[in-house]
Amino acid sequence: MPHTLKSLLTHDKVALEAALSLGSGTARIEVQMLLQQVLGVSRAWLLAHPEQKLDEAQAATYRALLQRRLAGEPLAYILGEREFFGLNFRVTPATLIPRPDTELLVELALQRIPQSLPSPQPSPACGRGSLFRVLDLGTGSGALALSIAHARPDIEVMAVDASQDALDVARENARHLSLGNARLLRSDWFSALAGERFDLIVSNPPYIADGDAHLAQGDLRFEPRAALASGADGLDDIRRIVAKAKAHLNLGGWLLFEHGYDQAGRARELLLQGGYAEVFSARDLASIERVSGGTIR
Ligand SMILES: C[S@@+](CC[C@H](N)C(=O)[O-])C[C@H]1O[C@@H](n2cnc3c(N)ncnc32)[C@H](O)[C@@H]1O
Repeated sequence: MPHTLKSLLTHDKVALEAALSLGSGTARIEVQMLLQQVLGVSRAWLLAHPEQKLDEAQAATYRALLQRRLAGEPLAYILGEREFFGLNFRVTPATLIPRPDTELLVELALQRIPQSLPSPQPSPACGRGSLFRVLDLGTGSGALALSIAHARPDIEVMAVDASQDALDVARENARHLSLGNARLLRSDWFSALAGERFDLIVSNPPYIADGDAHLAQGDLRFEPRAALASGADGLDDIRRIVAKAKAHLNLGGWLLFEHGYDQAGRARELLLQGGYAEVFSARDLASIERVSGGTIR
């Protein structure tokens, strides 16, 4: 017998709560999002039609998606997208799922870009000749780089990643957002950037310790290991980035990077040892020191 949207919501919300230890509100929203995906409707439409029934094909598709979610697969991979900084990003298992915590890094980056920049001069070398250049290291879906490029069409953003599969997704996102000021490049951190200098370098690098139990839990089980883990203390990539970024920053330029909830002290030490000035850490909405950075003089 065909089920109504209301009965599916009531029943499957409870199943998701039990299978994934989700709160009732989160489970409800997840079921709604799966139903929206299958029916191709807005949330408002879904809420306004509780007695609507799924036809056979829709019910089969919905059941398949629900089973994947019940097995723990992240909702963002099932839906193929995740919202970040007000924009929709395509995500696949080749990319990290952008986290709300990382929006702090976008905010801090945007604060460091002067409000008004002189008009760009045409330059044969890079086309636009932008006067302010941003680099995003380990761009994944492009969440950081493309949010910055979208907010500031008057600057040039370069984004690199070691994973070609992730870069393909980021390229699709750049095209979807119609961004003409973002360039994507495959690079092992700075290896393909010899001679390139930037006014701002941002990164959300891998920063989880190799043996951390969280890697075997929740969404992290499905995300690329190379996007998450970074050596015995989780700081291998941050050490590389802090050591090398200075040579790629213009005077007065900033390096800003995200790190783990308990890594701010060590991140500041690395920045100070590396000769950065005005070293600081900033707290996310949960009041956790989440981003650290410094400038060069
Ligand atoms: C934590 S994810 C961040 C993704 C994206 N910036 C975000 O915040 O959603 C780290 C990214 O760094 C990339 N990465 C790991 N090692 C790298 C390396 N040696 N050089 C360049 N990128 C690397 C991974 O492929 C992954 O996309």
